[in-house]
Amino acid sequence: MTRIALLGAGLIGREHAELLTSHPGATLAAICDPSGEAVQLAARLGVPHFAEYAPMLDAVKPDGAIIALPNHLHAPAALACIERNVVCMIEKPIAESVAAAARITAASESAGVPVLVGHQRRHSPDIRSAKRTIEAGELGQLVAVNGMTLFDKPDNYFDATWRKQPGGGVLLINLIHDIDVLRHLVGEIDSIRAFTSSARRGFEVEDTASIAIRFVNGVLGTFLISDGAVSPWAWEYTSGQALYHPTQPGPCLFLAGRKAALSVSDMYLWRHANENEHWQHPLVREHRPGGLSLTYVNQLDHFIAVIRREAEPLISARDGMATLAATLAVDRSSREDRTVTLTEMLAEGTNAA
Ligand SMILES: NC(=O)c1ccc[n+]([C@@H]2O[C@H](COP(=O)([O-])OP(=O)(O)OC[C@H]3O[C@@H](n4cnc5c(N)ncnc54)[C@H](O)[C@@H]3O)[C@@H](O)[C@H]2O)c1
Repeated sequence: MTRIALLGAGLIGREHAELLTSHPGATLAAICDPSGEAVQLAARLGVPHFAEYAPMLDAVKPDGAIIALPNHLHAPAALACIERNVVCMIEKPIAESVAAAARITAASESAGVPVLVGHQRRHSPDIRSAKRTIEAGELGQLVAVNGMTLFDKPDNYFDATWRKQPGGGVLLINLIHDIDVLRHLVGEIDSIRAFTSSARRGFEVEDTASIAIRFVNGVLGTFLISDGAVSPWAWEYTSGQALYHPTQPGPCLFLAGRKAALSVSDMYLWRHANENEHWQHPLVREHRPGGLSLTYVNQLDHFIAVIRREAEPLISARDGMATLAATLAVDRSSREDRTVTLTEMLAEGTNAA
């Protein structure tokens, strides 16, 4: 049994705790969170409780740790794990800044202690199927992608003050998952040009953004996101894999290549009946379903394999840092009204090191 400790038993941490207690290959070794709810959770699950993570890591000596703490605590907690040779899974975003992400990346790589970043969508059946379809060459060379995350968060979601302030908006909370999927499926991002708006709610933080993306391999992409508009076009609905949303089958991401196109999450592939057929002939539609596995269980299976050194992290610290940098580039591009490169954003990590 792989012994995994939990750092932070809030909204997402509680989900990890439940997943760990029901997994056949892992046990929940301890919970660290000073809140009263966490004390109760640990008692209910019959596991040791700690208020601080360093003494917990020293006392429990877990094989792995899940870090589900507020963003600014990801880096110190990850460094504490790496120092003790404990493989950790860090919830997204890897850290609150590229500089903090760079510290985690440097520590992980120099100590040879793997880190997995919790971008769970890469483990979801639809994204896995899309990845397989692209890698099998079924779409041919990718040309263009277009995606959407449009949903309406309720007013009381913003009762927490930090959600109204920079860092608490739709970019770092939601778009970061979409950026991660785009990097995973299409390739590394070269540069970004974006507009953001807070017109829907009038908060200091953005609620809506339109983004143009140039990928290093020449593919061009666009993405539209808002947490203040009603629509079914968001992975949370279309995948049927999110924790707190109903399933609403349909598409939210469109990938078009020289040979065929694919929509996610409905997983329809559209191609000519015969390659290079005339554009006025009807296309053929095929299905590339992803299967019925569960995203968060798949992620935990993978994390256990990483802890046992049976697999390399699907999203390493370096990878998670690039996803964060590209997401922050959206904000900078809008604020400064210019194109922002990933190289420029990543330099902040290098300069801070
Ligand atoms: N992957 C996803 O889809 C997803 C979903 C939700 C949240 N998240 C991420 O997970 C992290 C946690 O988010 P959340 O919504 O669960 O937050 P939350 O505020 O509900 O939970 C955070 C918990 O950390 C505890 N905590 C604070 N300081 C601590 C410390 N020093 N030591 C131990 N515990 C401490 C708090 O008491 C709280 O219970 C964030 O980074 C967030 O971005 C990811």
